[in-house]
Amino acid sequence: MSKAQTARLDRLLANMAYGSRREIQQMMDMGWIVLDGVVLRDAAKRVAVTADLSSRMTIQGRPLDPTAPLTLMLHKPLGHVCSHKEDGPRIYDLLPPRWRSREPALSSIGRLDKDTSGLLLITDDGALLHRVISPRHHVAKRYHVTLDRPLEGDEVARFASGTLILEADDKPVMPAVLDVLGTHQAHLTLMEGRYHQVRRMFAAVGNHVTALHRNRIGGLDLPEDLAGGAYRLLTAEDLAAIFAKPPA
Ligand code: URA
Repeated sequence: MSKAQTARLDRLLANMAYGSRREIQQMMDMGWIVLDGVVLRDAAKRVAVTADLSSRMTIQGRPLDPTAPLTLMLHKPLGHVCSHKEDGPRIYDLLPPRWRSREPALSSIGRLDKDTSGLLLITDDGALLHRVISPRHHVAKRYHVTLDRPLEGDEVARFASGTLILEADDKPVMPAVLDVLGTHQAHLTLMEGRYHQVRRMFAAVGNHVTALHRNRIGGLDLPEDLAGGAYRLLTAEDLAAIFAKPPA
C-alpha cells in the first residue's frame, strides 16, 4: 500500500485558501481547527492528506473543503465563459468562492463556448486534464447540435472522412461520428477539441449551429438531475466512466 502524502497543516490550509499561514495559526489559537474531535494548536503539525480528511477535520465547525486532487463536473449554463480573459460571468463564479483561490488552481478540462451548455469537467489534476483532452487517449466528446438548415445527407460521410478542412486551418479534422436525430438535430462525437470546432465543422458544410450542448465525455453522461449551473464532485465510478468505452 502506498503511504499517504503528508503536509504541514498551515501550508495545506493556506493552499486551500483558508487564509495566510499566519491567519491559520490565529485560527488554531482560537481553537477553530479540529481533527478527529481533537482541537489542533500546532500549525507545523504534519497531517496525512487523504480523501477522508474533509469528513474528519472541521474549521469553525464546518467540514474541511475537499483536498487535492479535486475534480468536479459542472452543468455549464449558457452565458458563462471558461476563459479568464473573456468578458462575462465565469464558470468559476458558480463554485464556492474559496475554491477559486486554491493552489494548485482549478481549471476546466477543455472549454465550452459562452453559447454552449453542458458537461464540463474542472480539475486541479494536470495529468487527468491532459489525459482527457489529448486525442491520443481517445476520450470522445459528444455534442447535441441544433441546426438552422436541414441536414443534406452527405454530412455523415464528410465528417467521417478525415479530410474536412476548417476555415483558417491547414490540417483536416480527425474523423468524427455524426448520428442524425432529425432534419435539424444530430449528435456529433469528436476526439479532438479545436477552437469552436463543432460550429466550424457545420459552417464548412454550409450549415449553421443554433444551439449546442455537450452531453457526454468518454462514457460519462451529464446526469439528468444536475441542473444548469450546478456541480458535484466526481466519484471514482465517474472517473472510471470517462475512460470506459461509451455505451453503444
Ligand atoms: N465546439 C464548439 O463549436 N463549441 C464548443 O463549445 C465546443 C465544441
